[in-house]
Formats: sequence, C-alpha cells, structure tokens
Amino acid sequence: MFFSEKTGMKATQQLKDEHEGIRVMLGILEKVSNRFETTGTVEKEHFDRIIEFLTIFVDKCHNAKEEELLFPAMLAASTQAKAPVEALLDEHKAGRGYIGEMCRAYTSYLEGNGPLSGNIAENARGYISLLREHIGKENDVLLEVADKLLSAEKQDELNGGFEKIEEVRIGRGKHEEFHGLLKELSGIYS
Ligand SMILES: [Fe+2]
Repeated sequence: MFFSEKTGMKATQQLKDEHEGIRVMLGILEKVSNRFETTGTVEKEHFDRIIEFLTIFVDKCHNAKEEELLFPAMLAASTQAKAPVEALLDEHKAGRGYIGEMCRAYTSYLEGNGPLSGNIAENARGYISLLREHIGKENDVLLEVADKLLSAEKQDELNGGFEKIEEVRIGRGKHEEFHGLLKELSGIYS
C-alpha cells in the first residue's frame, strides 16, 4: 500500500508503493475532469487539494527522490542507465508542463473565464495518460534494473536520503494527510 511500513523495506519498493498512491490520484483526477466537462464546474476545495498532491507529493517529494537520489545512484552504477534515465527525466518535465497549464486554466476558471477553462480537462487528460505510462515504465523496467544494480547498503542509504527529502520538502505528518486525502476523495469520486 501507499504508506506501508518503511522499516526494512527496499528504497525501490517505497517508490513502487508511492506509484500506487499516485495511480489512485490519477483515477480521481480523471473523474473530476470528466465531471468538469459535463457540468462546467469543479469543486474548488477538492481541486485545490488535488493540485497540492500533484505538485507537492508527486513532484517535490516523489520525483525528487528519483531525480536527486535514485537516478544518480543508477548512473554511478552503470552507464547503461543513462538512456532510460534521460527519457524518464524528460517525462517528469512534460508532466510539470501539463500541471503548469492545468493550473493556469484553473486560475482562469476561478477568475470567471469559463470558456478558457476547457484546458483544465485537456491538460488533466494529457497528464493522466503520460503518468500512467511513465509509472508502468518505472515499475516494470527502471526499478527492476535498480534492484539488480544497487546493493543492499545502497538501498539503505537511499532510504535515509528519501526520509530527509520527505521531512524537508513536505514536512512531518503530511504524508499521512495525503493518504487521508486519497481515501476521502476515492470515496467521493468512486
Ligand atoms: Fe516515479
């Protein structure tokens, strides 16, 4: 599960668990943007928290663990990691692009510019399909390769670094708050 007990767990397993949480949020975002298309409205409180999850948890925390710690460790272990890592970095960048556009359209919607806000759903859809494919690649290829390349000591070292990123980027207790959010919104948008 998303927040399984981290003690004794491989760093790569922690990333896989986070991918499951992200997949749940992608399903919620899909439902929210479908509703937006049919009704022309979005629940502000929900959408604000979805954006917070995507920008803080996914980008500032999860992607940072990969970009700042996992990818460099893999590159140091094998030159063969270079091409897949570069491709995945490009996808992180593309994801940021969709979220940036989606937020701009959302601001425009909040300012009352209804017709311009169609971009919310369009960018949400682009992000969802990009991320679903991206997570598939990371789980099935990258993290499998990482398990072969990285020693148990290195995995432990990564775990320590992941913990620091969490503390500094999102703060204590926030992880649990995001877990609660997934549960709450899954119940609403089922
Ligand atoms: Fe990832």
